[in-house]
Amino acid sequence: MDKDTDSFKLDKIYQYLWAAHDEAPFTLLDRSLNPRSSTVFMLDFIRQVGVNEDSSLLDIGCGRGNHTIALADRFGCNITGIDLLASNLELARKATVAVRLTSRVNFRQGSIESIPADDETFDYIWCRDMLIHVAELKQGLKECSRVLRPGGTMLIYTTFRTEWLEMKEMARVCDPLGIIMRNLSPDYFEQAMSDAGFEILIREMMGGEQIEFLEERDRRYSKELIRIARMIRQRERFVREMGEECYQTALALYHWGIYQLLGKLSSTVYVLKK
Ligand SMILES: C[S@@+](CC[C@H](N)C(=O)[O-])C[C@H]1O[C@@H](n2cnc3c(N)ncnc32)[C@H](O)[C@@H]1O
Repeated sequence: MDKDTDSFKLDKIYQYLWAAHDEAPFTLLDRSLNPRSSTVFMLDFIRQVGVNEDSSLLDIGCGRGNHTIALADRFGCNITGIDLLASNLELARKATVAVRLTSRVNFRQGSIESIPADDETFDYIWCRDMLIHVAELKQGLKECSRVLRPGGTMLIYTTFRTEWLEMKEMARVCDPLGIIMRNLSPDYFEQAMSDAGFEILIREMMGGEQIEFLEERDRRYSKELIRIARMIRQRERFVREMGEECYQTALALYHWGIYQLLGKLSSTVYVLKK
C-alpha cells in the first residue's frame, strides 16, 4: 500500500474512533437488549410443564440450595438437593430452616458420579452450573438417567468455550476453579449426553446473556473488572493479604464472567428427555 492509501485508511479509522465513544449509531449500544436470566428461563420451563406438589425433583450439585428452595417454594414440589461438599449443604440446610421448607426439601451429600438415590426416583432433574466440575461426565449423566423415571426430564445449564478462548486463557480459569477442560467442549458434552441415553429436546444457546443480565441488575461485572485491574497492578500486596491460592481463585472467577462478556465462553441451557 502507498502512503496515500495508508492515510486514507487511517482517516476512516479515526472517523469511527472519535464517534465510537459518544455518537450515533454507537449510542444504540447503550440500550439494553433485555437479556434473559438463565435461571428464569429454566424456572419458566418448569412452570410450563406443570410441576406441582406431586412431582419429585432432584437438584444435583445444589450448592447453597438457593434454587432447591426456590423450586420447592414456587411449585410446592418435593425436592432433594445433592452436593459433593458438606460445607455447601450446611448452608443449604440453614437457609431451608430459615424459610420453613424442611418438610418438602431434603439434602444429601454425594457425587453425581454415584448418586445416593434409588433407580427411577425423580420426575425432573435440575442441574445448574455444576457439570463443568465433573471428571467422569458420561458416568455422571448415566447416573442421572438411572435415577430419573422413564420419560423424565433433565434441565442443564452449562458453559462452553468458543473459538475466541486461547488455550492459555482456558488453563488460567480452569485450574484454579476446578473446572474440567474437556467439559467445555460442546461436542464432547453432547456425545456424553447421548451416550448416557438422553435425547436433546431443547438447546437454548444463551451466550453471555446471563452475565449481561447480572451486569444490568447490579453492575457485578464492572466491579469485577476493576478488581482484576487492581489485583494485577498491586499483585504482591493482594497476594500478601489474601494468600496466593485465594488470589488465584478470585482472579480466575472474575475472568470467568468477563470471558463470557467477551464471547470467549458461552452458556447453553438444555432440556433432555430420558
Ligand atoms: C457453581 S456451583 C452451582 C451451585 C448451584 N447449582 C447454582 O446454580 O447456584 C457448583 C456446585 O457443584 C458442586 N459439585 C461439584 N462437583 C460435584 C459432584 N461430582 N457431584 C455433586 N456436586 C458437585 C459443588 O460443590 C458446587 O456446589
